[in-house]
Amino acid sequence: MTKILIDGNHILSGEIQISGAKNSAVALIPAAILAKSKSVIYNVPEIRDIDYLIKIMELLGCKIDHKDDALYIDSSNVKNVPIPEELSVQMRASYYFMGVLLAKFGRVEISFPGGCNIGARPIDIHIKGFQALGANVEIIKNRYIITADKLVGKKIYLDFPSVGATINLMLAAVGAEGTTIIENAAMEPEIVNVASLLINMGVKINGAGTKTIEIIGNKELDNGVVEVFPDRIESGTYIIIGALLGDNLKIKGIIKEHIEALLMKIKEIGINFKIDKDTITISKCNEIKPTYIKTLVFPGFPTDLQQPMTTLLTQAHGKSTIEETLYENRFKNTYDLNRMGAITNILTLNKLEIIGPRKLKGTNVIATDLRGGASLLIAALIAEGKTEIDNSEYILRGYGDVVNKLKNVGADIEISE
Ligand code: EPZ
Repeated sequence: MTKILIDGNHILSGEIQISGAKNSAVALIPAAILAKSKSVIYNVPEIRDIDYLIKIMELLGCKIDHKDDALYIDSSNVKNVPIPEELSVQMRASYYFMGVLLAKFGRVEISFPGGCNIGARPIDIHIKGFQALGANVEIIKNRYIITADKLVGKKIYLDFPSVGATINLMLAAVGAEGTTIIENAAMEPEIVNVASLLINMGVKINGAGTKTIEIIGNKELDNGVVEVFPDRIESGTYIIIGALLGDNLKIKGIIKEHIEALLMKIKEIGINFKIDKDTITISKCNEIKPTYIKTLVFPGFPTDLQQPMTTLLTQAHGKSTIEETLYENRFKNTYDLNRMGAITNILTLNKLEIIGPRKLKGTNVIATDLRGGASLLIAALIAEGKTEIDNSEYILRGYGDVVNKLKNVGADIEISE
């Protein structure tokens, strides 16, 4: 069991470099299987999900060379074998092997994906999309066997602009005859990042990043090269930490356009910051105003910053409300925030009230999911005294080198395995 230990309430100054985006990298690595034989992925984050993905890729016969933050993937001997449950349940993104292996081999056998327990998280939209392209889907217990003699491009309308379904159908459409059009597609930056690799391999794709994406199938692809976009959620998390404890804290490597909703919101609540190219400089704000936040799909306020933002709003002067519209079980972190001295009330499955400002006190807490863990990490950094965060594996799943990054700017933080 991994624990992060923090002695809180230290002002932070210096520089934090943002890593590559988890939610891009976990799609780009499986997508490399579509290349002629070789791919290079640069700026890969140092997080646990990558280790599991490499295990699956090697099981599928890929040779992977991991040098610094680059992955050199040789897929010339890729083979199609069932992906065992013990690997696919480690993370949500294992579902991307559905689209990739369907496009490459017309068959995939894999269990229901894992991932943070923040709601039901069905994959019905993925499945409906595969069926629209001509695939047959069998579910035996919780294993999916998806087969297609031939995938044929179609117009597919998504019932909800799901990130995972948009990317998975884009991947499957590479192996389809003719043109696939995805309507009501998700517009998150991760989709643009994945499309950039496929385009680099020779796939014709129009409209990635918009509500309508057009993919022209192509089975004769080249090798691929791509750089993982900076992680917008990691950026947002450190910006929130800077607003609480920063002394001209510099966060380097951000893409401003990817975090506009957060920047607008923190400006509205009285937090000052300066942006110069890919660097934001931010300092502690003593008069944070309360606010109302509604999580939405991109470019709206990201659900993955909802829990870190909750911790920030425990320090706001007054009552704030958060409406979580994407997941029905994403307030579990508030139980331990309240044990640290915060006042938060779950009004309904998707509405939370936060009353501040409250002084937080260090204690033993337990991370229940990735961003919930981040919310407790932030609380521990601002709290008086020591905090021990149990189940910190969750945090390491999505925040590369977090302990050193914070230690280098003055935090009193350790990790114990
Ligand atoms: C991606 O999950 C991210 N994960 C999530 O980040 C993020 O919260 C989410 O997008 C929304 O931005 C990865 O990229 C690996 P969705 P995904 O499909 O693809 C419902 C983190 O902390 N839905 O856009 O699973 C679903 O239940 C993680 O980094 C269906 O009903 O998200 C949810 O309520 C957590 N049927 C909503 O749509 C489907 O077939 C959004 O899901 C698919 C989704």
